[in-house]
Amino acid sequence: MELSKALDFPHLMFRLRSITICGALLFLASGPKCARAERGADAWLRYALLEKQAAQKYATLPASVVVLGNSPVLDSAKAELIRGIRGMLGRKLRDDQTLPRENAIVLGTFSGLQHVSSNPLQQTDLRDDGFLLSTEHVRGFECLLVTAKTDRGVLYGVFALLSKIALNENVSALHETRQPYAPIRWTDEWDNLDGSIERGYAGRSIFFENGNVRADLTRAGAYARLLASIGINGCAINSVNANPRVLEDNFLPQLARVADVFRPWGVKLAISVDVSSPKVIGGLDTFDPADPRVAEWWSRKFDALYKLIPDLGGVVVKADSEGRLGPATYGRTPADAANVIARALALHHGLVFYRAFVYNHHLDWRNLKNDRARAAYDIFHPLDGKFDDNVIIQIKHGPIDFQVREPASPLFTGLEKTNEAIELQVTQEYTGQQRHLCFLPPMWKEVLDFDMHAAEHPTPVKDIVAGKTFHRPTGGFVAVVNVGMDANWLGHPLAMANLYGFGRLAWNSDLSPEDIAQEWTRLSFGNDPAVVQTISKMLLTSWPIYESYTGPLGAGTLTDILGSHYGPGVQSSERNGWGQWHRADHEGVGMDRTAATGTGYVDQYRARVTKMYEALSTTPDNLLLFFHHVPYTYVLHSGKSVLQYIYDSHYAGAEAAANLVEQWKSLQGHVDDDRYAQVLNRLEYQAGHAIVWRDAICTWFFRISGISDQRGRVGHYPGRMEAEAMQLQGYAPFDVVPPEDASSGKAVECASPSQKCSATFPFNGTAGWYELDVEYFDQNNGKSKFRVLVDDQPVDEWLADDTLPATKPNADSSTRRRITGLALRPGDTIRIEGVPDGDEHSALDYIEIHSSPE
Ligand code: GCU
Repeated sequence: MELSKALDFPHLMFRLRSITICGALLFLASGPKCARAERGADAWLRYALLEKQAAQKYATLPASVVVLGNSPVLDSAKAELIRGIRGMLGRKLRDDQTLPRENAIVLGTFSGLQHVSSNPLQQTDLRDDGFLLSTEHVRGFECLLVTAKTDRGVLYGVFALLSKIALNENVSALHETRQPYAPIRWTDEWDNLDGSIERGYAGRSIFFENGNVRADLTRAGAYARLLASIGINGCAINSVNANPRVLEDNFLPQLARVADVFRPWGVKLAISVDVSSPKVIGGLDTFDPADPRVAEWWSRKFDALYKLIPDLGGVVVKADSEGRLGPATYGRTPADAANVIARALALHHGLVFYRAFVYNHHLDWRNLKNDRARAAYDIFHPLDGKFDDNVIIQIKHGPIDFQVREPASPLFTGLEKTNEAIELQVTQEYTGQQRHLCFLPPMWKEVLDFDMHAAEHPTPVKDIVAGKTFHRPTGGFVAVVNVGMDANWLGHPLAMANLYGFGRLAWNSDLSPEDIAQEWTRLSFGNDPAVVQTISKMLLTSWPIYESYTGPLGAGTLTDILGSHYGPGVQSSERNGWGQWHRADHEGVGMDRTAATGTGYVDQYRARVTKMYEALSTTPDNLLLFFHHVPYTYVLHSGKSVLQYIYDSHYAGAEAAANLVEQWKSLQGHVDDDRYAQVLNRLEYQAGHAIVWRDAICTWFFRISGISDQRGRVGHYPGRMEAEAMQLQGYAPFDVVPPEDASSGKAVECASPSQKCSATFPFNGTAGWYELDVEYFDQNNGKSKFRVLVDDQPVDEWLADDTLPATKPNADSSTRRRITGLALRPGDTIRIEGVPDGDEHSALDYIEIHSSPE
């Protein structure tokens, strides 16, 4: 429930000490001022009015804009410039058709500008999409030129210029070129035609609804603008688990409508296709890539599609993976499947992104030599050089699947004669699903900068995928993003830092996460130093925090891999064919992937990397359990035993998550009320859920290892009162499955769905101010009501109406409600009432009471 809803119940508040919303602070003469409300739709393109002093710097900026050339992309560039200058400086640029007799901002390609510039423009070393911002004399007037080889480059130049102004940078006497790191900078969206989004956490699809392309594509156009502003030039709009219908003749014109709204922003449309389409929708009795009829089908299909969308970027292919059909059906290889499609696209300059995410999910878990991490290299390395030049192998950054920490995929150096793109994941499938703060550029940067040792000189992943190391014609960066209809695109207002960070790293992989965090914060929240410092710090620490209360030491995220991929689920990885094993047993934990005694995965790297990971002594602690199986008592480089590290890390992580809330609270009044409240709500939830994680993981490892926490925390929770130990009316205890998902393995739920239930206990502490945490289960199949009373006086009530990924009481639905500033006296009776709804039975886990912080 949102803070504002809680305030609808003034009668609840008399026992509570403080009301800490911005509105209340308005009454305090010296309180911080509240900023204007924002919904996050503008993301980093807010163009907020600059403070007077900052605006002064741009006093001499020309008053008119001239575009030399004519195209939808140049139109966007001009309109964007006018919009940005109006927003930030409050000035309306004159829109001149020809060069005026005054200073001007001049937009155009080199060829468009050649006849007006007195200096020969230094265009030779500019690659496609790169741009030049320069101050030049044009017919005696000082002009600011935004120029490039292509219209798209000009558009990128305009966004860069506006970003400079938003960041208060100097724009006079400019001479600056900027080049992208690689030609491919794409996003994949996993949208389904019915409007749902696979692993999407921010509402319904912006592209599809009810099996068709949406009638209103306003948001799709707005998204293309955001993508263009960070240099993204392609976007595949449907899930890699592709519905073959996307290629049906009557669907193609619908795709053309999306291409139409992308085009003005220089974003190429792409689609995911199912390789069985020639058979499933094409009327053939086969989809064998070696069959000439199949080749013919693909050719005809793309000829038709390119007639409607002449600038289609290409297709994404997932095949022979997780139940998808593929060339293996006919004993053919991924190269056969990729090339048959690539040849149909080549004529039209289209690309095939063939995903290396191909593995057997029915592996025999009993065989300790089996290893899913090996799959991509084992399958694709032997095919190196067999792929056509318009095929790009799209490789997830790690060998498993976007876990909280993985080593770089060995396939990056397994392909020297094949184009590559790295696949990153903006949508936080395994990193908190945008309910937890997890800024990913530091993680991506570690992989991008990782030296794969393919030569004597450094060969970091970023150079390999950009085509620089092995001199490939193309390659680059792809991110799975999954924005949705939520106003702020990704659900959590701070999650957009990940999309921004992806775009910035794809453009310039040498940027540091610190620079990206600061830049994003300033563009998204303004230049107040307290805001910039606090949010940047929160972002930069958030991945290590998330890692520490989920799956540290390289064990994988330790989440429920069979269902939601959200809450803790240690056991779910084991004893099944999916191969996300961590091999935790009574003695030890970790996958032995060494050449000497394990699966031999380490041998897939180049010699120097193999050597580092093969030896325990040189494997970094943070990847230890990815490469080695060790006893719980094994001593890390840090001097701690593995198990004590796991315990300590989970406690420290949960504490750090709680501290994020405090850091954010220091910004009250410095950021707009809407986003302040939204972020606070998510961070408070995260702090509670980090405790659910902490307790589940620690309990699980304690149970399986039998080794106690040296600091005595695991299993001992001061101030905690189990619901099943309270006096129950209508509530009945039950066993939660798996047991570590609830405190002491048990919870209570209303026995009858129509009845109001209560759990009561006496307060035995000393009189004072307290915080009371209610741990309850908020499923997505009902909206129970809860009420807390102290001595029959209501102190809080709320609706359990969240949409967490759970239909039963477990660690996914376990949620904390914190009641702060509560006055308690010995002998007070505390009662929690639950009113069930639908299949949600107002389940309660425990109450925890702590003294209020000073
Ligand atoms: C993960 C994810 C799937 C997705 C797959 C992929 O396994 O959970 O939803 O389809 O990755 O990348 O293809």
